[in-house]
Amino acid sequence: MSERKSIKVKHEEILRQQQFINELRTLLSEDETKYKKYYIVTWGCQMNEHDSENLTGMFDLMGLTPGENEEDADIIIYNTCAVRENAELKVYGNLSHLKKIKKIKEHLVIAVCGCMMQQSHIVDEIKKKYPHVSLVFGTHNLYKFPELLTNFLSSNQGTLIDVWDIDGRIVEGLPTYRKKEVKSFVNIMYGCNNFCSYCIVPYTRGRERSREPKDIVTEVESLVKDGVKEITLLGQNVNSYGNTFEQSYTFADLLKTLNDVDGIKRIRFMTSHPKDISDDVIDAIANLPKVCESIHLPVQAGSTRVLKAMNRNYTKEDYLSLIKKIKSKIKDVALTTDIMVGFPGESEEDFLDTLDLINEVRYDSAFMFIYSVRKGTVAENMENHIEESVKKERFHRLLEKTNEIAREINASYKDKVVEVLVEGKSKKDPNILTGRTRQNKLVNFKGDESLIGDIINIKVTDPKSFSLNGIVL
Ligand code: SAH
Ligand code: SF4
Ligand code: F3S
Repeated sequence: MSERKSIKVKHEEILRQQQFINELRTLLSEDETKYKKYYIVTWGCQMNEHDSENLTGMFDLMGLTPGENEEDADIIIYNTCAVRENAELKVYGNLSHLKKIKKIKEHLVIAVCGCMMQQSHIVDEIKKKYPHVSLVFGTHNLYKFPELLTNFLSSNQGTLIDVWDIDGRIVEGLPTYRKKEVKSFVNIMYGCNNFCSYCIVPYTRGRERSREPKDIVTEVESLVKDGVKEITLLGQNVNSYGNTFEQSYTFADLLKTLNDVDGIKRIRFMTSHPKDISDDVIDAIANLPKVCESIHLPVQAGSTRVLKAMNRNYTKEDYLSLIKKIKSKIKDVALTTDIMVGFPGESEEDFLDTLDLINEVRYDSAFMFIYSVRKGTVAENMENHIEESVKKERFHRLLEKTNEIAREINASYKDKVVEVLVEGKSKKDPNILTGRTRQNKLVNFKGDESLIGDIINIKVTDPKSFSLNGIVL
């Protein structure tokens, strides 16, 4: 067992921020015309979504209401992602656009936070090219937003920058806002220790640390009170949950604990790192009634040589034998993955290994990416970076293969009866309800909205490539 490394932010500090919120509530309401509305744009993964929910909770307590768009807002927050270059380019594009709004609306506060801000070259770029930005903060001090906003408003000159380069802490008890929905995400850990050679996340989110089980259970119980039926447990590598604890308590233990929480009907989780998924976790999925038979197991590449260069710590054979074990132990398991093409040095032969692995595993669906150089990572300085045209060509072949398999898997559902948790009305057609199977397949069907939140049986009549159409039994 490793020594305890997690540090919780002290409750007094959270109360101090609450005090800033109270003061801001008075200050901002004094000038009614100026600070009424906020607008948050969130890029990236669920970690950022979760942080934005906290920021929304803070704004709510400050007495501000959500604006329709950037033009409508008095305070704008961009919560940024750094995982690939195109995510960063979008942020720069939007920031340029804000320059025009700021010219017309002088009091506009523009805050930029999230993973991009944890990189000093990005902060330098903002200072140089986007001086209309009011406030810059990072992922580790997001809980201090009320204090930072207060400081900015009282000085109101230049850009206020506060980014911490620390190992990371756990913050409990922040204000939050959640949409009232049937399912919800629950963070169980933060950060990452894996340092895959292409990835920026360990640099932007700090070292891995796990929330205490009792804090997670309390959150899940309160979600149940709000009508939530399904939770997805989140972490960059959920299989190393608990590594920072003094006592032995693993991810499989957490699954068992949460399976006993009344009112929760389904439990999912992501992401599992293939090198760390234990037999206990596989058994927990197989045996715990609420834990769904669906595993997201990012492979990244099918070539052992490339996997080694990526620092993934498994071979093609290790991965395939893990899949074999999972399929033999968990009945009707659905497998999804993340795959990348164009990693430095990837040859045609390496890429064919990826296609070969996909043929063997047969994923229900896959998130696919073109490798993007990240500053400061080990892969940045590797030799043989792949030409864009080659990367694109491989990406299209990959897409075709994974879609073909996904279509075939979905087609095999024709006339089968599936168990669906009804999530809500379809966005495209309010007469149609949508839900998901235990395997996380999207199902569309006609039905009364009173069914929302129920688990019902649906007969699949018309399987599509990315969803299943059916009728209520
Ligand atoms: N912790 C998760 C993934 C988090 S990032 C895991 O280990 O699986 C989500 C996905 O983005 C990764 O799985 C990877 O496929 C992709 N990704 C990460 N860095 C990337 C980069 N530099 N270029 C392209 N894709 C990248
Ligand atoms: Fe990135 Fe690897 Fe950590 Fe996932 S496990 S967040 S890919 S470093
Ligand atoms: Fe997530 Fe992007 Fe940060 S994927 S952890 S928001 S770099």
